[in-house]
Amino acid sequence: MQIHETIAATRVALKNAGRIVFVPTMGNLHEGHIALMKQARQHGDCVVASIFVNRLQFRPGEDFDKYPRTFNADGEKLVEAGVDHLFAPSEIELYPTPQRYVIEPPLEHATILEGEFRPGHFCGVATVVMKLFGVVQPHAALFGKKDYQQFMVLSAMVREFSLPIEIIPGETVRAADGLALSSRNGYLSPAERAEAPRLHRVLTKVVAAVRGGNRDFTALESNAKTELQAHGWIPDYVAVRRRLDLQSASASDNSLVVLAAARLGTTRLIDNLEI
Ligand code: PAJ
Repeated sequence: MQIHETIAATRVALKNAGRIVFVPTMGNLHEGHIALMKQARQHGDCVVASIFVNRLQFRPGEDFDKYPRTFNADGEKLVEAGVDHLFAPSEIELYPTPQRYVIEPPLEHATILEGEFRPGHFCGVATVVMKLFGVVQPHAALFGKKDYQQFMVLSAMVREFSLPIEIIPGETVRAADGLALSSRNGYLSPAERAEAPRLHRVLTKVVAAVRGGNRDFTALESNAKTELQAHGWIPDYVAVRRRLDLQSASASDNSLVVLAAARLGTTRLIDNLEI
C-alpha cells in the first residue's frame, strides 16, 4: 500500500490507476470500515482510503481533540484489507488557509436529526468530502449506512452537482450483541459497554411493531425514548422517517427507516435500522 501525505503525490500516483473506488474515513479503523474496503474491491481496480480527522465537522466542545488517532494500527489493517493507496494529509495540507468556500446542504437535510443536535456538522462533512473527491477523483465512493443521514446528504450533493461519482452504501457492521461498531464505542466504560446494545434493541422493537402494522410512529418513538431514559440514557431523538429524504413519515409511507441518537454517560451513540 502506498501512503501519500500530499495532494500532489496522490494525484501523481492515481494518474493511470483505472477505476478508482474511494473510502474516506477518520481513522481508528474497525471491522465496519474494513468491510467497506473489501466491498470497494468489488467495484473497481484501485481502492483508495483516506484518514483525516476533519475539524470542520466537529462543533466546539465535541470530541475533536480526544478523537482516537491510531495511525500505525490503521495502516496495518488497510494493508491486510488489500487497500492500494492511503491518502493521509495533515491539517495544513488539506486546509492551508481557512476554508471560506463551503458546501451548505439544504436546511431540510442539514437541520433535522443529527443536524438539529450538531449544527454545522453536515456542512463540515460535505465540504471535506467535496475536497477529498477533488484530490482522489474517484469513479465510485462507499459510505456506511451506520451514518444514514450522512449517506443521504452526500448522495444528494453528488446528484445535485452532477459529479461523475457512483455513491455506494455499505451495510452496518455490528458486534455480536448488536451494538453498531463505532470509534466512539471506545469511550464507553465496561458498564456502559454492557448497556450500549439497548440502543439497537429498542430500534429492533420499533421495526417489529411497524412491520406488525402499528403506524402510530409518535407513540413508538416516545416508548423507545422512555425505555432508553429508564436505563440512564439521554436520547436526542428516536424517529421513524422516510428512507429517501428522512422527512417525517405518514401512515401510508412504505420505505421507512428508524433512526436514533442518545447519550450514555458522556458518549453520544447513533444507530438506525431500515424497516
Ligand atoms: P468515519 O466515522 O471514520 O466513518 C468512515 C466510513 O465508515 C463512513 O462511511 C461510515 O458510515 C462508515 N462506518 C462507520 N461505522 C460503520 C459500521 N459499524 N458499519 C459500516 N460502516 C461504518 O464518517 C466519517 O468518518 C466522516 O464523516 C467522513 C465521511 C470520513 C468525512 O470526514
